[in-house]
Amino acid sequence: MSIIGILGSGRVATGLANKLAGAGHDVLVGTRNVDALNWTGTPVTITDYESAARRAQIVINATPGDGAVDRLGALSAALDGKILIDVSNSHNPSGSEHSLAELLQAALPATRIVKTLNTMFFTVMTDPHSLRVPPTAFLSGNDDSAKAVVTALLTDLDWPAEWIEDLGDLGTARGTEALMLLVPSLIRNRGFAPFALTIAA
Ligand SMILES: NC(=O)c1ccc[n+]([C@@H]2O[C@H](COP(=O)([O-])OP(=O)(O)OC[C@H]3O[C@@H](n4cnc5c(N)ncnc54)[C@H](OP(=O)(O)O)[C@@H]3O)[C@@H](O)[C@H]2O)c1
Repeated sequence: MSIIGILGSGRVATGLANKLAGAGHDVLVGTRNVDALNWTGTPVTITDYESAARRAQIVINATPGDGAVDRLGALSAALDGKILIDVSNSHNPSGSEHSLAELLQAALPATRIVKTLNTMFFTVMTDPHSLRVPPTAFLSGNDDSAKAVVTALLTDLDWPAEWIEDLGDLGTARGTEALMLLVPSLIRNRGFAPFALTIAA
């Protein structure tokens, strides 16, 4: 079992924290408002971002993609030597020739970043069997050993190995992050309902 720090306390963070704590991991939820956060789920430790990053072995970025480079860059010392799982999306993915994950990696050279779970509605991240069609969990990362650790965590989130697709290095996250160009149209057509990108073959 691992010590997992989750940055943010919104929909994605809450779902991942509850599921990972339920699987036996020691979960630290990092928030900007330690005193104001009213946590009612599976017991976790509530702390600030720096403490969650510093005390954890694996850190999950569940904060907005917009501003993430500055927000996480400020935590570079605490994130030194850690695996950072980035599930965030920017609202303007076409605004850069690099993926957000690549920009985070450049800001955090001593951290091994793995991008995953950013191509689905938040409920699917922790309940992949809830859709009628099997979803895909894409992986992008420069370090194979970090991707192996993240694959094991996905197993704890109930992802079968055959639903996990390792795309390659962090440059491949440009593809998965571009899904944000489609999301507003999907929500307009289908409402705020669970969906995920999948590979039909
Ligand atoms: N919702 C989805 O279905 C979904 C799917 C795929 C990917 N994602 C990505 O996952 C990340 C989290 O999404 P979410 O739906 O959980 O969002 P959310 O409910 O709005 O939560 C985001 C959390 O980030 C923290 N935060 C830090 N700086 C912030 C800022 N400037 N503005 C707002 N929040 C800030 C807040 O936690 P504290 O107040 O505790 O600091 C907030 O609760 C985003 O990058 C999103 O693109 C979401």
